[in-house]
Amino acid sequence: MKKEKSVEELQKEIVRLKKELKSKKKYGLVWEDKPEDVVEMCKEKLPVLKEVSNKDIITDEKKPVNILIEGDNYHALCALNYSHNKKIDIIYIDPPYNTGAKDWKYNNDYVDNNDTFRHSKWVCMMEKRLMLAKKLLKDTGIIICAIDEYEIHNVRHLLDTIFQEKNKLGMVTVLHNPKGRNLSKFFSSNSEYMLVYAKDVNKASFNDVVIDEEKLLTFDQKDELGGYRLEKFMRVRTSWSRKNKSNNYYPIYVSPKMDILTLENIKGYIPVYPKTDDGREWAWKNIPGTFNSLNKDNYFVALKEKNIINIYHKYREKQVFKNVWTNKKYFSEFNGSLLLKDILGDNYFNYPKSVFLILDILKITSSKNAIILDYFAGSGTTGHAVLELNKEDSGNRKFILVTNNENDICTDVCYPRVKKVIKGYKNLKGENIKGLSGNLKYYRTDFVDAKPTDKNKRKLTEEATEMLCIKEDTFNELKTGNKYFRVFKNDRKYTAIIYDILAIDDFKKYAQKVNGYFAVYIFSLSDDTYDEEFEDMKNKIRLSPIPEAILRIYRRIFK
Ligand SMILES: C[S@@+](CC[C@H](N)C(=O)[O-])C[C@H]1O[C@@H](n2cnc3c(N)ncnc32)[C@H](O)[C@@H]1O
Repeated sequence: MKKEKSVEELQKEIVRLKKELKSKKKYGLVWEDKPEDVVEMCKEKLPVLKEVSNKDIITDEKKPVNILIEGDNYHALCALNYSHNKKIDIIYIDPPYNTGAKDWKYNNDYVDNNDTFRHSKWVCMMEKRLMLAKKLLKDTGIIICAIDEYEIHNVRHLLDTIFQEKNKLGMVTVLHNPKGRNLSKFFSSNSEYMLVYAKDVNKASFNDVVIDEEKLLTFDQKDELGGYRLEKFMRVRTSWSRKNKSNNYYPIYVSPKMDILTLENIKGYIPVYPKTDDGREWAWKNIPGTFNSLNKDNYFVALKEKNIINIYHKYREKQVFKNVWTNKKYFSEFNGSLLLKDILGDNYFNYPKSVFLILDILKITSSKNAIILDYFAGSGTTGHAVLELNKEDSGNRKFILVTNNENDICTDVCYPRVKKVIKGYKNLKGENIKGLSGNLKYYRTDFVDAKPTDKNKRKLTEEATEMLCIKEDTFNELKTGNKYFRVFKNDRKYTAIIYDILAIDDFKKYAQKVNGYFAVYIFSLSDDTYDEEFEDMKNKIRLSPIPEAILRIYRRIFK
């Protein structure tokens, strides 16, 4: 016979069950974890960024240096976690939509409709990258994710979990292909979405800008404060009769030249009441107190029309961002595929976004000095949009683009596109399109053995030089005449990398002759920064140990 459980045993069982219930997900996205090769390899190899210097584009040294990284974005995001922790203002991504039509690869195989793990693989891939990306955003930062109906439900859950639902700023529906997909048997999809989340909704803000000029055409008049249209100050509606709104029925006194309006009964001024020419009495939109507070900056206008004086007020243009975007400038065919073809000739890519779509979302979300990251950059539309927007509003935004080189998209589409947009090109009609000017550095992901041996630490230090330059935004190398330390600069500061502690004295002699601040990275097998050696110049340097500073970040990511 089965033995009855004691009260104590039952209590223990309740505690166990409660624990189990707590650990199980109650609501949200559940998926099968499918190990990803590019992630697994980081157990043995650490990612670094290596410059491809013959691909430098420099047209104006006063402008910011933009970055293009060729490689898997998981590796690039790991490296950026070292160089750009909390430095990115805006992330725009347009990941593969996982349509089932072999539009992306997982572990080197195309994912198609027959793959039972199709959605799980996609979610695995997105989750890891979104977690890394979130760490890059400033507290005021915003992420925008383009997506269509195939994965919108999954990515919304992911974003709600990683960024939290309360930080969702909205979902924009974009009419991008008015013809629709003509193979569809039922509804023909012609729109897609942008999901927009803040890192912290209380710290994020949108700019006060105009993106839909057509809507603003009705604001047909202008004064020193901007565009406006005139609206009657009198309300003609039964509920706004004199009887119903007696507080809003009062005289406004208008000067003989019609340029001064006041509630004071001044000699020679004409009293105007809210009356129509048939003698019916209505009410003003506001009570006298509100009229007085609004009555400045020529907000009210009196006009003699026929034989009566009408009072108007200025209705100022203000852009309200609606969440359905149908303007034809956002159609991906004309301002995406055909534009790309116009820039590159025959060499095009199937699904680029409209450059104006990205330009407008950046116009709303980014400041003029923003750093903008796109880690599914594809043909480089985001880079193009940043250059255009900087040109439009004299901004200094910088972009970081990351794309793999699937079908040579990075080397043969993204890079040449950005280069032509910067330097200028001849379009398909043979017209010369002027370059927007700017600078670009090209990097590839590479790897260093992860075993923490002295030899590997030394190797990582040597191979991390570019990552340090990216972190410090110092790209111009200066000649030091000493192979054990290198120095890079921008117009504000210097970065020094000391590969051997025996070179400390030589470096100090060099630095003492230079008037400026140094970020000094010093090779150390531990995390010693040899502070005592730099005591006499501690006001002009900031010391960090490498590779420990990098390893610390990588240990956190790969734990
Ligand atoms: C939908 S496209 C982006 C198109 C882009 N918005 C444009 O306008 O050209 C996605 C791009 O991400 C790239 N990609 C896919 N998986 C990637 C990964 N793991 N790392 C880096 N790039 C990836 C693909 O090669 C593809 O070019």
